Amino acid sequence: MTDKDKRPWAGRFTEATDEFVERFTASVTFDQRLYAEDIAGSMAHARMLTRVGVLTDEECEAILGGLTTIQQEIEQGRFEWSIALEDVHMNIEARLTGLIGDAGKKLHTGRSRNDQVATDLRLWLRQQIDDLDGMLEGLLRVLLDLGEAHADTVMPGFTHLQTAQPVTFGHHLLAWFEALKRDRARLADCRVRTNIMPLGAAALAGTSYPIDRAYTAELLGFDGLAHNSLDAVSDRDFAIEFCACASLLMMHLSRIAEELVLWSSSQFDFIVLPDRYCTGSSIMPQKKNPDVPELVRGKSGRVYGDLLSLLTLMKGQPLAYNKDNQEDKEPLFDAVDTLADCLQAFTGLLANLEPKPESMRAAALRGFATATDLADYLVRAGLPFRDAHEVVGRAVLFGLEQGRDLSELSLSELQTFSATIDPDIFEVLSLDGSVAARNHIGGTAPQQVLAAVARARAGLDRE
Ligand code: ARG
Repeated sequence: MTDKDKRPWAGRFTEATDEFVERFTASVTFDQRLYAEDIAGSMAHARMLTRVGVLTDEECEAILGGLTTIQQEIEQGRFEWSIALEDVHMNIEARLTGLIGDAGKKLHTGRSRNDQVATDLRLWLRQQIDDLDGMLEGLLRVLLDLGEAHADTVMPGFTHLQTAQPVTFGHHLLAWFEALKRDRARLADCRVRTNIMPLGAAALAGTSYPIDRAYTAELLGFDGLAHNSLDAVSDRDFAIEFCACASLLMMHLSRIAEELVLWSSSQFDFIVLPDRYCTGSSIMPQKKNPDVPELVRGKSGRVYGDLLSLLTLMKGQPLAYNKDNQEDKEPLFDAVDTLADCLQAFTGLLANLEPKPESMRAAALRGFATATDLADYLVRAGLPFRDAHEVVGRAVLFGLEQGRDLSELSLSELQTFSATIDPDIFEVLSLDGSVAARNHIGGTAPQQVLAAVARARAGLDRE
């Protein structure tokens, strides 16, 4: 018997599938990635059918044994995947029947590939979310370590990419932390809706066998049952939602990447990227290129593409299952793989990052970063803020002409702009004084950064 004859629907047909159509409609080249979930789902289904009396104990034993053998064959690279058998489900089922005979043919009782594939995909994504969550936690911890080490490292803070006010490097790193922490919460929320079991919906209408869905769900670790069979086989929201979470996360990684690229340039010179995360140029001997952050930035586009693919895939589909849905896997796999690679890349890169505090401080001294502090000082001395703003503007203009920062002007020079300025101004104009003054929750003061690190770390440890 050829693989073509083993196709379960062969009975209805009078001619063999066109070779091209066979390849065009097959998904086994990519959905074989779901083999472990497919086998786990089948084992649980067989156990459930046995419990409700549809299969005998002997049949169940034979099925479980056969599926275990198949799993080993696949994992040892001995399984022969066949395009003629279309997808992972029919490949495994055909092999099962080949191994154990008639009992294998009974496994599909009360089930369809429609609820089977939806179940497999949810089981697979659930595991991926858990793995990604672990990776994300690792990256968050690296950010906390680095933030703690640089709680009092001063750098220029930017708006419009122009020097705005001094901030601490630790505070900047904790801004990244906050964004990625939200991403982690979004993934956890996506997991809630992913971990719902479609099995039992069969093709679309449910089944006439006395199935016990709650039992199957318990065996597979699902938190709940899909409550409508039509929705169960057609819903791919969980995959879209995952790609939306992944897109947001990639957008954050891309923004971080952009800063790493800027900061490692000789124009900024704030950080040194580890050599083993960079490459050279084949023509310019001096080059050390930030390829890894650049690729992370570039790969954000792929993941947005995966999201768009899935949204577009679903938008025109009537209920219930349509073959279109076979196209859900590659974008989802790609989003997961890309995200995992990017998280790994950044965790390693940031753990080995070499910040240059002196260079950051020198840059902060260059852009009149403490001008706002001078204005605030004048306000405390009684000037309306708008007047203070103007006074400081004139002082900045003078500094620009002189090529000196406000803190480098003498007391008498400063007093030409406002008589209320006293010697205590130099503390206010210092970078350290400026950051230390922003000492409230969410502020950039070193003390606040250390407190934020401690809070965040306790949060991670508590999980
Ligand atoms: N390979 C298919 C998929 O990925 C499995 C479900 C096929 N169901 C069907 N009725 N053709 O969606």
